[in-house]
Amino acid sequence: MSTLFDPINVGKLTLANRVAMAPMTRNRSDDDGVPTALVAEYYAQRAGAGLLITEGTQPSATGQGYFATPGLHSDAQVEGWRAVADAVHARGGRIFAQLMHAGRVGHPDNKTTPELVAPSAVAAPGEIFTRKGMQPQPVPRALEEAEIPSVIEEFAHAARQAVAAGLDGVEVHAANGYLVHQFLGPTSNLRADGYGGTPGNRARFAIEVVRAAAEAIGPEKVGIRISPAHNIQGVIEDDEQATAATYGTLVDAIAPLGIAYLSYVADPRSALARDLTARFGGVTIANDGFAAVTSLESAQAIVSEGLADMVAVGRPLLANPDLVERWRSGATLNEANQATFYGGGAEGYTDYPALV
Ligand SMILES: Cc1cc2nc3c(=O)[nH]c(=O)nc-3n(C[C@H](O)[C@H](O)[C@H](O)COP(=O)(O)O)c2cc1C
Repeated sequence: MSTLFDPINVGKLTLANRVAMAPMTRNRSDDDGVPTALVAEYYAQRAGAGLLITEGTQPSATGQGYFATPGLHSDAQVEGWRAVADAVHARGGRIFAQLMHAGRVGHPDNKTTPELVAPSAVAAPGEIFTRKGMQPQPVPRALEEAEIPSVIEEFAHAARQAVAAGLDGVEVHAANGYLVHQFLGPTSNLRADGYGGTPGNRARFAIEVVRAAAEAIGPEKVGIRISPAHNIQGVIEDDEQATAATYGTLVDAIAPLGIAYLSYVADPRSALARDLTARFGGVTIANDGFAAVTSLESAQAIVSEGLADMVAVGRPLLANPDLVERWRSGATLNEANQATFYGGGAEGYTDYPALV
């Protein structure tokens, strides 16, 4: 029986334990999307987790959705990430960058290029936090079929930039209502061309992004995160058969590539998660979503029952830089302060105390 504290091989890496830091947007990069020295300190503090997965990082200026998020398209951003990678490696950690193109989620006030692009000209519901407060989400421009290869190339370029920065790999963000997920979901993808109309066609963009990233930097350095039937940000997947068909097509297509891992936000005991895990055949990382904060007990059960190989842990790691040591020794945990999740400086970011 495996435990959370056992090492595991992922791609060509041997990770010290089965706790992955879940990707968490923290909005503390500079106005050019460059991670600062504070960002490097934050990740280095958490290097005891087997694998750090960074906050969503835009592969292009157009892909930015929120303010003060980092990018991986400019050379200055590569230099910022190099400091992060070096700081994490100096503490014996490993780190993948989550490549997040926000697609229709965003606002011109949050980014340097005003345009929002998406599979279809359908706005994400509700309002988004901007520098000027909450504002309605604009209607995005539907991507022309002919320009889709250039968006896919943005992911490949960002993957190369990640490796150039010394990061250990990238995670394609195909979850939680952002661009890749917008292609997967029937309510955000109304296309009638080769990228929409059927469950299989809706999977095509995700498949092509993973393939392009794998070709760019090697499949062992590429993971993917999905959130099937999570029903988030207006990407509604409530038709069980269609959802199973879309994600089945995706997983069957990427399984032979030999990528580093499949990470999912879903109940690991659900029929869908079990089916996708069996079809993938490689390393899986589970996260139950926001239903309940991940606990030692819930994480350990996932690994010891063999439901997934690793667990992505969000808020507990945000609040406990030395979470793995605390869990190992049964120490009490710091509570996460929601008021400092997004934006600001060191408070609620790098000042959560570690056990000495
Ligand atoms: C502050 C914050 C920011 C997040 N940002 C991202 C993100 O950039 N990308 C992503 O895939 N998920 C993001 N998530 C979701 C987490 O990765 C994770 O799925 C969620 O927090 C539930 O896990 P937990 O109970 O361990 O916190 C975020 C969650 C939080 C709390």
